This record gives sequence, structure tokens and C-alpha cells, in this order.
Amino acid sequence: MKMYNCIIVGSGIAAMQLANHLSDQFRILVITKSTKRANNSYRAQGGIASAIGEGDKPAFHFQDTIKAGCEFQNEKEVHNLVEHGPKLIEQLKKSGLDFDKDDKGQLALGMEGAHGQKRIVHCGGDATGKYIMEHLNSTLRTDIDIVENRFVYELIIHPTTKKCIGIKAKDENGHNESYFGHQVILAMGGIGGLFSITSNDPSVAGDGIALAYRAGADIVDMEFIQFHPTLLYFKGKTAGLISEAVRGEGARLIEESGQSIMAGKHLMEDLAPRHIVAKELFQQRLAKKEVYLDISMIDRFEEQFPTITAMCQSNGVSLKEKRIPVAPGCHFLMGGIVVNSVGQTSVDGLYAIGETASTGVHGANRLASNSLLEGLHYGKMLANHLNEQLIQKEMEIPFYNPSNSTTVNVPLLPDKEELRAKMMAYAGIIRTSSELKILHDWLSKYDESILNDLSLDEYSNETLQLLFMLQVAKLITTSAQLRKESRGAHNREDYPSEDERWGQIHIVQSKKGTEM
Ligand code: SIN
Repeated sequence: MKMYNCIIVGSGIAAMQLANHLSDQFRILVITKSTKRANNSYRAQGGIASAIGEGDKPAFHFQDTIKAGCEFQNEKEVHNLVEHGPKLIEQLKKSGLDFDKDDKGQLALGMEGAHGQKRIVHCGGDATGKYIMEHLNSTLRTDIDIVENRFVYELIIHPTTKKCIGIKAKDENGHNESYFGHQVILAMGGIGGLFSITSNDPSVAGDGIALAYRAGADIVDMEFIQFHPTLLYFKGKTAGLISEAVRGEGARLIEESGQSIMAGKHLMEDLAPRHIVAKELFQQRLAKKEVYLDISMIDRFEEQFPTITAMCQSNGVSLKEKRIPVAPGCHFLMGGIVVNSVGQTSVDGLYAIGETASTGVHGANRLASNSLLEGLHYGKMLANHLNEQLIQKEMEIPFYNPSNSTTVNVPLLPDKEELRAKMMAYAGIIRTSSELKILHDWLSKYDESILNDLSLDEYSNETLQLLFMLQVAKLITTSAQLRKESRGAHNREDYPSEDERWGQIHIVQSKKGTEM
């Protein structure tokens, strides 16, 4: 039996920041669904938002964050996040991370949507995530166990204390393993894999939220899902992200004719908050109009954006014309598992950090490049919290009787691609009550209630994955149906305006029911 102080599920920025800051007296396991580099943090292009520029202040970063999030945030958490930003960047620098510099040898600061000024630090041009993750992996203690390619399908809850004391996982062949730990931390990313068009790593499909929900945790704000305006679009399909930093350097969204799409739509035009740009682009695509990023004004595009250049080349998209075809796709979940300022969930012993968690910092629409910052901040906050309560005593493992049954009844489940397509069509960028009802009725044909069974040991990886996706799709649909207003990334065609009566209402779902 494997015993740890901390079990970290996931290998993105929040997970690795936590692992790097935990006391060296802890026995630590990092366990991840795919390989340790297959996560959204690794894919991040833009960078980390932090108020370090001349004339910038955390108070300005605070204002931009609150405004982009439609004043739907936990202000105390936003305050802590932006205040810690400059220190977190300084620590990364000190530990050896090489951020891009300008001609004067100062940190080069990029611009992104809804920021009042340049404050995005980056590495390798547009390869920030890769550089940071390689750095955090390289600074990790060598005695930390890293286990890859494990599908975590169950949290082990002590039958009497109700504390989370471990996890169950399946390897690629479906063999079961159990790991026990004093603290279990979910850092499993968001829900992009539930949508047919996404910037996310395909492995990111809401597992953390399904696990926490099943264990009795509260889940909040699942209707707030951010769609990124610019994914590379070619031959009717999308590939990876075209960073907002490209628009920060002056690129403009244009129609086939060359006419600007965002002119006159918002004061900040192409750098308007992300939900506003995504909605405009979605409407263009609905009208069957092609959308391009005009990059003709960026002189050294290939040098500044090597990742995007390589992505265009490998997908056969030429940059000679100086216009990149783009379309919006699912990018980031603002909601998630309810946590406090150190990542504690409503289940004893269970923590969540990063996109899996909802700390309240993003409100109804996340400000660009605040997500890597969030991972760094909460990874560190949780490490500090856990280090203070170093648990030395041995753990009491309850009698654990793995299921002996060899046959299980697998319920009727949806086809994965159909589920993704339906989520994109009916719970995507613009929602209506009639379309959400179609989605709700379609999802209701399928039953995920076996997730309430005591043991899931005998189900296959594929069945469990689909059950999780179904569960999370239902949570999203329920929240989107209930919120009868448009706010940030939640656009209801039938309730097109922000309604102040909804301004303080968060939709919280748990196994006990839904509360508002
Ligand atoms: C981007 O580079 O456009 C994405 C950055 C982010 O999502 O914060």
C-alpha cells in the first residue's frame, strides 16, 4: 500500500508550483492522467499578468480584472492575487527562469485584451507555458513520485470520519491502484474537452469536478465558460491557439474584404474583453463569414511568435498573405470546485487549485493571462497552509474491500463526439432557453447515477470517462438554464442584458441539490 502526505492529481502550473513549495519532510505523489507535459499550462502562449511595469500598480491590475470579470468576483481574492503577482515573478526569476527582455535588458511586457497597460511577462516569445513548466519540473525535488498515464476515478472517503484519505486510479490497461494520503489535491484543469472546438489539451474533460462532486463537494458558477476568440481555423477545423498577444502587438480581426470586425463594437476594439470579441466572431461565423487576423503590421512576426508560426506551418497555413484564419473555441472555466483562499474544499482533506477550483478571482470572464498567475498564487498559498500543519502521525487506513464482482451493468451512455458537438452547439458562446432545453432533454436520456455506487472499480476507463463527462455536462447545462441574464461569458440570447438582481447570485450545485 502506498502512503503519502500529499497526493497531487494533475501536472499543470498549480500542481507543480505546489509540489515545489511543499516541505521536504512531506512524502509527495504527483499523479497525472496523461504525460506530465500534456496539460493546458504547457500550452499557454501569452504569459503571466503582473503589475511590474513602470507606472503600473496592483491596484490597476485589480481594476482591469474586476472590470473584465463583470464585477462578479470575490474582491478579497482578486486583491491578494494581484498583490502577490510581482513577488511571484521575482521568485521565478530568482530560481532561474529566463523571462524575455527588452532592448534595455528589462522584462519585456506584452499587451492583451482588457488590460489597461502592458503587463504580461513571457518566455520564448509565445512559449511561456512550456518554459515555465520545464522550469518547475526541473526544480522539483527528486524524491517526489511522479506517476503518469493514470485515470483517477475515485476519491477514497473514510467511512466514519468522512475525510478524503486517498484516490483510486486505473492505468492504461484498466488495472486498479489505490494511493493513500493525508491530503488530496485536485489540480486537474477545466472542461475544454467537453466541447468539440477547444484550445485545451484533449485530456482535460472535467474529471476533477466530477470527482469532487461525487465526494460531496460544492461546485459553483459552471455556466461561466470562456471562449477564446482566436483558434487557428483551417479546412473546417480548428487547431491550437493564436495568442491574444498577437492582437496586443497590433493585429486586427478582419472580414474577407479586409474590413475591421471590432471597430465600433467596443472602445478597446480588438483588445476588448475576451467574451465580447468571441461573441462578435461567433456571429460572423454563424453568418458563414470567414474571419482573419491581419498581422501585416507586425514586422518580426516569426521571431516574436515562433510557436504560432510553427503551428501555422505544420497545418499548412501560409503566413505570406499576412492573414491567419481564426475561429473561437472553448478555453477556460471560471467556475469549478468551491474553495477558500488556501484551496480547501467543503470535503475534509480535499483541496483544489488552478482551473479545477473556483476561488472567485475570475468572476464572469477571466482577464487574459491571469490563469498562470492564479496557478502560481494558489499553489504557493496551499503549500504554505499545508507546511504549517505538517502531519507526522501515521494514517489510519479503514478496512477496504475491493469489489470482487467481474460483471457490471454498463448503462446507456452518449457517444463522446456527439456529446462534445451538442455542448458546442447548445451550451456554447450564445445560449437560448430552447436550445439549453434540447441539450438538457438529450442529456437526461443518459443516466450517470452509477457514480453514486459505492465502488466503480469494475468499470472501464472509457465508461468512467464518459460518465464524468455526462455528469459535468449536466452541471453546466443546469447552471446555464438557471441564470436568466447575460453576464460575461454567459450569453443568453433570450436575456441579453446584465441584470443587477443576478449580480450577487452564485449557482452552487452539490449532491444535496442546487442552491442560489
Ligand atoms: C492567450 O495567449 O491568448 C491566452 C492567454 C490566456 O488565456 O490567458
